[in-house]
Amino acid sequence: MEDAVIMAKQAADAIRQAVGDGFEVCVILGSGLGGLAERLADKQELSYSQIPHFPRSTVESHAGKLLAGTLEGKRVLFLSGRFHFYEGYTFAQTAFPVRVMKMLGVPRLIVTNAAGGVNETFSPGDLMCISDHIKFFSDSPSRGNPMPEFGPRFFDLSHAYSPRLRELARRCADELSIPLKEGVYAFMPGPQFETPAEIRMLRLLGADAVGMSTVAEVIAANQCGIEVLGISCISNMAAGVLPQPVTDEEVVEVAGRVAQTFQALIAAIIRRM
Ligand code: HPA
Repeated sequence: MEDAVIMAKQAADAIRQAVGDGFEVCVILGSGLGGLAERLADKQELSYSQIPHFPRSTVESHAGKLLAGTLEGKRVLFLSGRFHFYEGYTFAQTAFPVRVMKMLGVPRLIVTNAAGGVNETFSPGDLMCISDHIKFFSDSPSRGNPMPEFGPRFFDLSHAYSPRLRELARRCADELSIPLKEGVYAFMPGPQFETPAEIRMLRLLGADAVGMSTVAEVIAANQCGIEVLGISCISNMAAGVLPQPVTDEEVVEVAGRVAQTFQALIAAIIRRM
């Protein structure tokens, strides 16, 4: 068995021992969005450092802990803190928690993130349901020896973001009167924000938002048959859209400002999932 498979199994065993299993959905909480965890009933926490082989989160706005509990009557797992390519991790390392979810039998994944608005009709604070992504030609979590435990070597991404869950998100947003955009998320490796020329290029290619996370997790989830929903918080307009620099402070501040709306939407989606 490949080391990565053994490591994912050991991590899943440790989580199962600490917080049990039977989880219906896992939510990866992006920058500034960790507050959703406060809504959990019967909350149990596990620091990433207590889970074998889990990478360490080196980003301040990412807590680095797993939370288990009940939300809207469903058993859920939150990953508060994720791993990024710009921290020096490979795509396989950034997707490791998703493969651990597979070993735990978690059938659905909600990925959240803060992203820059490329679509000029967007505004900071908007929420965007991810319809598809663009990743160019960098790494893949699935590169290397085939590992059947994580799914087939070649696999389809025609519906990487579940049409069923996107429709559900749309209905929940309508019912809560939350405006929800929809669009294509472009991955850029960071950690520098993009240049205005790069953002113009992404816009030409059909991107609506840009960010430095998410796609490795989504690719790995699709490979192993986990159903995915992705929601971006547009935390800033991407470089060159406005006559001001893009800053990390703005990203975290805006994500914090829409946190309540964001949490209400995710909770409604989980209730109806
Ligand atoms: N670019 C890349 N990643 C981001 C941005 C951005 O403008 N905002 C939040 N994450």
